[in-house]
Amino acid sequence: MTQLFFSEYEASPDDDQVPPRPLAIAGAGGLGREVALLISQINAAGTRWDVRGFYDDRAPAVPTVGGLPYLGTLADLNAVSTPLAVAVAVGSSASRAAVVGRLTSPHLSFPTLVHPAVTLSPEQRVTLGEGCLIQRGCILTCDITLGRFVLLNLGCTLGHDSVLDDFCSLMPHANVGGGAHLATGVYLGTNATVIHQVTVAAGTTVGAGAVVVRDLPAHCTAVGVPARLIKNYEL
Ligand SMILES: CC(C)(COP(=O)(O)OP(=O)(O)OC[C@H]1O[C@@H](n2cnc3c(N)ncnc32)[C@H](O)[C@@H]1OP(=O)(O)O)[C@@H](O)C(=O)NCCC(=O)NCCS
Repeated sequence: MTQLFFSEYEASPDDDQVPPRPLAIAGAGGLGREVALLISQINAAGTRWDVRGFYDDRAPAVPTVGGLPYLGTLADLNAVSTPLAVAVAVGSSASRAAVVGRLTSPHLSFPTLVHPAVTLSPEQRVTLGEGCLIQRGCILTCDITLGRFVLLNLGCTLGHDSVLDDFCSLMPHANVGGGAHLATGVYLGTNATVIHQVTVAAGTTVGAGAVVVRDLPAHCTAVGVPARLIKNYEL
């Protein structure tokens, strides 16, 4: 896993002499518009991204999305001939992994984008992989590891020593306790909680409002308090 230490995640220039760096958003849905808002909030705090517009295989009904142009399909994005940063704004863990798998052009890069009010100081010892998106109101404490393309939607909390592997997706106000481990592609619905020291195996979905108090197997859906399996795709 390629990871950036917390102090290196800010890949964009913040020097007034350096031109804003071009960036496109892959995913023209609601999350895409929220990510555009995140980037405008990052820009307002001093970092400068030049958001060019949206790419999505599904063309929107209107030519602009949240005031920004629709620029084409993922194949068009993969065919760009100059350097372009990309924010992959796809909420489903599996779909986001599939999109990233298609974006193979060496011109594309995937900065980690963190809301400016989210604290990531050296004494927190947080490591972040490329392409993570961390929205307003998230609180990360210390000694936390996020893999590549992890999505933390609004107001999520991550406790000490938690580990979120690649492509995990946390919806608004999801909470992960100390020492918990979310394996690759885990999805936590809004207001879901995984308590301390619990492991959720790869590809499992936790429903909105659930509380996970024991380890969950891979590729399942669990709901409720305490969370119980309702679907197991490996059976
Ligand atoms: C858990 C979830 C993924 C299940 O979706 P699904 O696989 O399509 O399952 P279904 O809708 O067929 O529901 C199956 C059963 O689980 C129940 N159920 C679904 N979600 C539930 C939840 N969050 N809590 C408790 N029960 C739930 C349904 O009522 C249904 O029960 P029934 O069989 O007795 O009628 C989905 O309901 C969910 O919670 N997604 C999270 C959405 C979210 O947070 N989005 C954030 C966007 S910002």
